[in-house]
Amino acid sequence: MKVLGIETSCDETGVAIYDTDAGLLAQSLHSQVDLHAVYGGVVPELASRDHIRRLPALVRQTLSDAGLGVESLDAIAYTAGPGLAGALLVGASVAESMAMAANIPALPVHHLEGHLLSPLLAAEPPSFPFVALLVSGGHTQLMAVTGVGAYTLLGESLDDAAGEAFDKTAKLLGLGYPGGPQLAALAEQGRAGRFKLPRPMLHSGDLDFSFSGLKTAVLNVVSAPGWQPEWAADLAADFQEAVVEVLCAKSLAALKQTGLKSMVVAGGVGANTQLRARLDAVTRRRGARVHYPEPALCTDNGAMIAFAGALRLAAGERPVRAPGVRIRPRWPLAELFSPAQI
Ligand code: KG4
Ligand code: ZN
Repeated sequence: MKVLGIETSCDETGVAIYDTDAGLLAQSLHSQVDLHAVYGGVVPELASRDHIRRLPALVRQTLSDAGLGVESLDAIAYTAGPGLAGALLVGASVAESMAMAANIPALPVHHLEGHLLSPLLAAEPPSFPFVALLVSGGHTQLMAVTGVGAYTLLGESLDDAAGEAFDKTAKLLGLGYPGGPQLAALAEQGRAGRFKLPRPMLHSGDLDFSFSGLKTAVLNVVSAPGWQPEWAADLAADFQEAVVEVLCAKSLAALKQTGLKSMVVAGGVGANTQLRARLDAVTRRRGARVHYPEPALCTDNGAMIAFAGALRLAAGERPVRAPGVRIRPRWPLAELFSPAQI
């Protein structure tokens, strides 16, 4: 079964084709980073317009790279939410119209399910069940995953997501957008330990997170009298250390609570090398193993959407053929099941 996947939920236009027999056949990605950089963040209207500009060419390119025509596809999966409404509409419109023209099903996919399942695309994929730590720009969640579509929320951020905290802190330190990778790079040049930053909810006894206070603590440091800009790298290192420590402690607690020995990390912050190193070390001590998507598949991409769509179809999901375009900009993962709910 060959599934074309389309991702346009935010600032990346991603297209890919996944074949349930042969794996990933082709993928194309266009990042809008340069477009939004001058504004210091994603401008939704510009994002939508750029998706319109790029998507048709990327679809053509991906089909051509895979050596396939539309008639060879079995379905078209697209990100239906959560995300920016205008941006989602672009991918949904293209997917639904192509599917209608080719007389094949269109499958609305949950963006976070795409992230969550992306470690299964790795050369050595984990098997179900596992704990998933989802750390993206908009979400920080711990989940128990027992199969495709079988997700139990164990804990989540009560305010800012981990990626959002990275982005906002990067802005406070005068770094450009996207802040996460730049802050991580700056942290590499610094030494943690100069500043005492809080470890929010470390001992809360549950699996929830809170990161907004950490960003405020950084703001207090940089606005205090005597602040020296040359300390920025050390502050970045202390900030990263605090986030990583909390994420690792809660991940361990989730493994303990569920009794599982396997976990996956997905979402943009999963590309953070310090998080990977520390999580590997602490889980190894518990006899558990962590699986990551390839770094290129950590951030938004079409491959994870094609893959999630293909897995759902393979699991027996029958997409509802309904005229019109289905998106759900706010779509809790807990409500994920039938696309009929969209
Ligand atoms: O999953 P993603 O591409 O988009 C969402 O669905 O949100 O995640 C983007 C987030 C951004 O907040 C970005 O700053 C963060 O992931 N990010 C990182 C790193 N690479 C991306 N944060 C920390 N360290 C990184 N290396
Ligand atoms: Zn994402």
